[in-house]
Amino acid sequence: MGSEKPQGATGAALEPLSAASRRVLVVDDEEVICKYLQRALREHGCDAVYRLTGQAALQELERQRYSILVADIRLPDMDGIELLRQAKERSPQTSAVMITAHGSLESAIEAMRLGASDYVPKPFKPEEFCLVIDRVLDRRRLLDELAELRRELADKYQFENIISQTPRMRDVFATIGRVAATDTTVLITGETGTGKELVARAIHYNSPRRNKSFMAINCGAFPETLLESELFGHEQGAFTGAIATKPGIFEVADGGTLLLDEIGNISHAMQVKLLRVIETMEFKRVGGVETHTCDVRILAATHADLAAAVGEGTFRRDLFYRINVVPIVLPPLRERVADIPLLVEHFIRRHGPKLNPAVQDISRSAMRKLLRHPWPGNIRQLEHVVQRALILADGDTLLAEHLPIEGAQEPDDHGDLAFNEHLPLDRVRNGLVEQLERAYLDRVLRLHRGSIRKTARHAGLSERSIYEKLKKYHLDRRTYKAAATGAPA
Ligand SMILES: Nc1ncnc2c1ncn2[C@@H]1O[C@H](COP(=O)(O)OP(=O)(O)OP(=O)(O)O)[C@@H](O)[C@H]1O
Ligand SMILES: [Mg+2]
Repeated sequence: MGSEKPQGATGAALEPLSAASRRVLVVDDEEVICKYLQRALREHGCDAVYRLTGQAALQELERQRYSILVADIRLPDMDGIELLRQAKERSPQTSAVMITAHGSLESAIEAMRLGASDYVPKPFKPEEFCLVIDRVLDRRRLLDELAELRRELADKYQFENIISQTPRMRDVFATIGRVAATDTTVLITGETGTGKELVARAIHYNSPRRNKSFMAINCGAFPETLLESELFGHEQGAFTGAIATKPGIFEVADGGTLLLDEIGNISHAMQVKLLRVIETMEFKRVGGVETHTCDVRILAATHADLAAAVGEGTFRRDLFYRINVVPIVLPPLRERVADIPLLVEHFIRRHGPKLNPAVQDISRSAMRKLLRHPWPGNIRQLEHVVQRALILADGDTLLAEHLPIEGAQEPDDHGDLAFNEHLPLDRVRNGLVEQLERAYLDRVLRLHRGSIRKTARHAGLSERSIYEKLKKYHLDRRTYKAAATGAPA
């Protein structure tokens, strides 16, 4: 059982920009001017520091992150323009404001051309100076917000993390898109490691419930009595060891989504109880008399063939129909071999930075070995194999010998292929671009409640190409109308 929020944005190497948001570095060779500006900035709510030379300022920029660099265009040790150039190299996220001599519009223009955000001509009043600083800070904030949005988009794509370009998985994506906006129960089936939980999370995080909890419980992992108390909770003294009242997962997931994982593995009695709570959204804690109500979206997953279990009489038909409103069947990896290069790239990117940042590529024979493997453990197993290979690799390329799987013996890279003849990752990157595009489109459509006209304007594309992309990505604009109003479709 576990609850998870979408991952936060990946942190910058330096401290977050917000901490540096009003930090200003002033450079001027005249200390009186520095002190004068420092006082004006401090009174204006900024955290101001000054340096008397360009070199000292550059050192300071490497030590700390600043929002704004204020520099006189004429400095004794270096030209302000040169300082600006080097400052941009060392700290590209710092905006620059140049102080220019009266009438030297040319250098002001040159400074703006080199990336200064603004300039203040001498002589100036502190209010004028602070006005310029405010303007630059505002623009900064806007840029930061944009960057944040972009990261969010990347995250959205990240938490979905469902990599595929095969038609069967495209259909799965389409179904996810369709059901996410609704409260429909979905039954996700597939062999172990085919991404059932991943799909469940994608449904939740694309649904109107995304800000409430996503809970998952492995129904197969508990003996019957314990499962009942996990699901519905128990009152104090309900059984030996029930020393305090404990809420069940239906209560905890209230307002959110609950994945009933391995639902094929529960007893008849539990099936009856589950059916009741799914239908009425009412339950009693074990040992309790009070009826509790909840609002939980139910997703179910299993590796078993439930229809067959119904035929054999081990799974109740009524519960099966109740949870199987929309079925999603995940194909095993051996039936979507075309996804292997994409997945490998995905796992190298995901685990490479931690396990072995040197690795950039995978050799052809290694890829061939991966493509031929039967993958009984599916994507999870492929992921582990890539992780192990990353640990074992000693160059910038994963080789067949690094892969901890049995395979038909093949000549390795030292054999029939030139040693440096690798499968470039670029070739498999197109699929990732498509995923990103789909996620982007999904977001913009949601924003504009499925309006093609607004989506096209927002994305800077023609309406026709939006229609084409909708078709390409199996997106249905109607589902976005429902999503925006929150009404189940
Ligand atoms: N299409 C995919 N793209 C990228 N990663 C995937 C994909 N499908 C699965 N994975 C990864 O494979 C692993 C297994 O996925 P998941 O736990 O969702 O599978 P599962 O079907 O629930 O497995 P099990 O039956 O064993 O519980 C996870 O690390 C997941 O991130
Ligand atoms: Mg699972």
